[in-house]
Amino acid sequence: MESQLISKFKAIVGENHVLTEPSLVEPYASDWTDHYRSQPLAVVRVTNREQVAAILRVCHENKINVIPQGGNTGLVGGSVGGEFPHIILSTKTLRNDMNFDSTTNQVVVDAGFTLGEVQRFAQENNLEYNVDLGARDAATIGGTVATNAGGMRVVAHGMTSAQVVGIEIVLPTGEFINNLGGLPKNNTGFDITRLAIGSEGTLGVITRVRLQFHSPRKIKWTALIPLSSIEAAIEFCRPQAAQILAAELMETDSINEIAAAIGEPLLSAHTDWWLLIEGDGDQPELPESAFMSLDVSDTNQMWTYRESHTGYINRLPNSIKIDVCVPVNTLSEFIAGVKHLWGKYGEQKDLWIFGHVMDGNLHLAISNCTNPEPVVDEVMNLVVRLNGAISAEHGIGRAKTKYLKDVKTPIEIETMKTVKKAFDNLGIMNPGVIFPLEK
Ligand code: FAD
Ligand code: MLT
Ligand code: ZN
Repeated sequence: MESQLISKFKAIVGENHVLTEPSLVEPYASDWTDHYRSQPLAVVRVTNREQVAAILRVCHENKINVIPQGGNTGLVGGSVGGEFPHIILSTKTLRNDMNFDSTTNQVVVDAGFTLGEVQRFAQENNLEYNVDLGARDAATIGGTVATNAGGMRVVAHGMTSAQVVGIEIVLPTGEFINNLGGLPKNNTGFDITRLAIGSEGTLGVITRVRLQFHSPRKIKWTALIPLSSIEAAIEFCRPQAAQILAAELMETDSINEIAAAIGEPLLSAHTDWWLLIEGDGDQPELPESAFMSLDVSDTNQMWTYRESHTGYINRLPNSIKIDVCVPVNTLSEFIAGVKHLWGKYGEQKDLWIFGHVMDGNLHLAISNCTNPEPVVDEVMNLVVRLNGAISAEHGIGRAKTKYLKDVKTPIEIETMKTVKKAFDNLGIMNPGVIFPLEK
C-alpha cells in the first residue's frame, strides 16, 4: 500500500521530488525549535498548483494525512506531523510566478517565494510590502499567510491579514477556491480569504496569494533608548504613535549575554530595558544616554541585538517560547505577575522577555527548565485573566492546543470545528493543529 502511494506521488511530481531517504527527509521532519518531529511516509515537493491538487486527491482517496510545510520556520510545531501516518507536502518549491499589477499596486505570488523575495520585489517597484520578521529569508509567503504572521512592523501597518487581498486555496478533494480578483469591493457573502489566513494548514493548501503593496514610509531616525520600566517605554511611545515604524523592547541582561556570545559590543548596564525604535517624523527628544543611529551600520547593529534573541535562546538547553498578547495598559501588571511566578518556580536569569511592546505582544522564553509545563500553565492563566491572547502571532500549532478552550467558548470551538469539516470532511489536513488530536 505504502509503496503504491509513493509510486502515485512520483508519477505526479517526479521521482526526485518524493523524498523517503531518511537523510533527505530529516530537514523537513523536525521543526525549527527542534521540539517537534515527525516520521512522514514521504516528503512531497510540489512545483505547480495542479500537482498540489493531484497529491491532495490521492491523499483524500486513501485517507492519508497531509502536513503543509513552507519554510519550516514556524515556532509552534504546526509544520511537522504527529504520531499518525502522514506526508509532508512542501510548498517551498512552488515558485513560478510573481505578477505585479501596477493599476492596484498588488501582486499575485506563488506560495513558495520567501517573504524577503516579496519585500525586494516591492522595492524594485518603488513600493513596500508591510510585513517584516527575522525569518524573512526562509519563511515562505504561503507560510506567513497560513500563520497570519506579525513581526516588527505591526505597530505601523497591522498583521499579515491587513496586507492580503485574496488567496487561492486547494481543498483536500483537489478542488480550488480562488479569490485572486483583487476587487476593492466584494460583499458577496462569507469571506473565505479571511478564514484561510491563520488557518495553519488545517483547511487546505494555500497555493497563491494576492498582496497589497504600499508607498514606502521612509525611516528618518532609529534609536536605542534606555528605560527603567515597561511603563516608561509605553509613555515614551504614546505621544509619537503616528510616526512609529517599530518599537521593540529588550532587557539589558539579555542583550549583553547575547552580544557577548556573538561578538557584538556590550551596552551599559545602568538600565533594565532598552527600546529599539524607528520613526518617520521629527526625531523626539531622547534621553542623554540613548544611542542615535548615524548610519546603516549602527542600524544593523541595533537590529542584530534584537533579531539574535530568537536563535540564541533556542540554542540554550531546555528552552521554550511563550508568545502572548495582553492589553497594552496591563503589560506592567503582566510582567510583575510573571516575575512573581519566577520567585515560585526558578531563577530569574532563565526568563527572557522581549518583543513588540506597543502591540502588547511580548515574547517570554524559558531556558534551562526541565519541567516548564506548570509555569507555562500559570502564565497562560494570567494572560486569560488579563483578557489577553494565548498566541499573539505564532499561532496555536501543536504547542498550544490545550489552551484553546481557555480563550474560546464551547460554541466558538464547535463552530470552528464545523468550518474545518466543511473544508476538510475527512479531517486529513494537519490533524492535531489548532484543535487537540481526537483519540
Ligand atoms: P512553516 O513553518 O512551514 O508552516 C507554518 C504553518 O503554516 C504550519 O501550520 C503549516 O502547516 C502552515 N503552512 C505553511 N505553508 C502553507 C501553505 N502553503 N498552505 C497552507 N498551510 C501552510 N512570526 C511572527 O509572527 N513574527 C515574528 O516576528 C517572527 N519572527 C521569527 C523569527 C525567526 C528567527 C523564526 C525562525 C520565526 C519567526 N516567526 C515569526 C515565526 C513565523 O510563524 C514564521 O517565520 C512564518 O510565518 C512561517 O512561514 P513558513 O513558510 O516557514 O511556514
Ligand atoms: C520575534 O519577534 O523575534 C519572533 O516572534 C520570534 C520569537 O518569538 O523569538
Ligand atoms: Zn515576534
